[in-house]
Amino acid sequence: MIGVDLTYLRGRLGGRMLRLLEPETAHRVAIAALRSGVAELALASWPHPSADEIVLGISLWGMGFPNPVGLAAGFDKNAEAPDALLRLGFGFVEVGSVTPRPQPGNPQPRLFRLPEDGAVINRMGFNNDGLEAVAARLKTRRRGEGIVGANLGKNKDTEDAADDYERGIAALAPLADYLVINVSSPNTPGLRALQGRDQLGALVGRARAALRRTMGEGRGERAPPLLLKIAPDLTPEDRRDIAEVALAGDLDGLIVGNTTLARPESLRSPHRGEGGGLSGQPLFAPSTEVLRDMYALTGGRIPLIGVGGVATGAQAYAKIRAGASLVQLYTAMIYEGPRLVRRVRRDLAAALRADGFTSMVDAVGADHR
Ligand code: FNR
Repeated sequence: MIGVDLTYLRGRLGGRMLRLLEPETAHRVAIAALRSGVAELALASWPHPSADEIVLGISLWGMGFPNPVGLAAGFDKNAEAPDALLRLGFGFVEVGSVTPRPQPGNPQPRLFRLPEDGAVINRMGFNNDGLEAVAARLKTRRRGEGIVGANLGKNKDTEDAADDYERGIAALAPLADYLVINVSSPNTPGLRALQGRDQLGALVGRARAALRRTMGEGRGERAPPLLLKIAPDLTPEDRRDIAEVALAGDLDGLIVGNTTLARPESLRSPHRGEGGGLSGQPLFAPSTEVLRDMYALTGGRIPLIGVGGVATGAQAYAKIRAGASLVQLYTAMIYEGPRLVRRVRRDLAAALRADGFTSMVDAVGADHR
């Protein structure tokens, strides 16, 4: 009993202490703790998933996801700890965004906690180690032991954006379980303009061709699915264009979505005026509405990953009912620590059962029926 209490305390104190640190330092400490295995100690007292959680399994793109709760891009940008993160209980982990060449990102400070709002503002600007380093790390892991996707970005000074995504695909398609074209970070000038119809059609066409070339040259492996991550701030016209491009066949899924440039009136924290993308609680409602709309616009024919403000099982369930086949989170983990993922999973399984669902697929898009 004492052992259990101590482990519990370590988890709580670990989380609290991290929040006393400057946010980027806390992030570096968290990654180091994950790499060393120390972070997992905080979970030792948590019961293993029960048979009740069988209901959470879902099969997509020929892969079996043990549960639909994933870690969103931006936490493990450099693929330093994907397997430790999977061991925390995530159903899948997305590394990146990674750009072809390493780049330092924006000057610090560039990451701000808004605790009163359960939110974060970041303008990191794709700070990352580059494709070569990320590919080298992914090569050292054993494939097939948990689903790891790779999120691709473009270097700040690249003129031909599609060329950077082609490079990302060539380097990481053989090493990732799925690939994401990220055209929705608010912190790379011009990036979000790639979501317009003509630009997007051309970009996605080139990305798909690069994927065929890369995997065609491989050893007959199946190409990983190609997803597009979009902004939550799109006009109805942008959304229709994106749905059209997705339905035309070159995309296997959409991630809805990235951080928002909006600053809701409700924000209370002193940092609310900082520039960058807002994530966390204030993003939950608007991102879920865009998700709902994308499901309707694509007639439920394109798998969607719902991201934005998920901190509870009820919120994960709401995204699934609105049309998400999978969900992801990031900001809530900053405030709740690594125990969050198991709690979300447990409560999601209970919510599904309470509504009489015996499998995830039946719940996906249930609000539309
Ligand atoms: C992010 N996010 C992000 N997304 C992406 O596609 N590439 C990236 O490199 C990053 N980087 C990043 C850094 C930080 C500090 C944060 C908080 C977020 C966005 C993230 O993946 C997610 O889409 C949003 O944060 C919304 O989900 P949450 O955080 O509200 O659960």
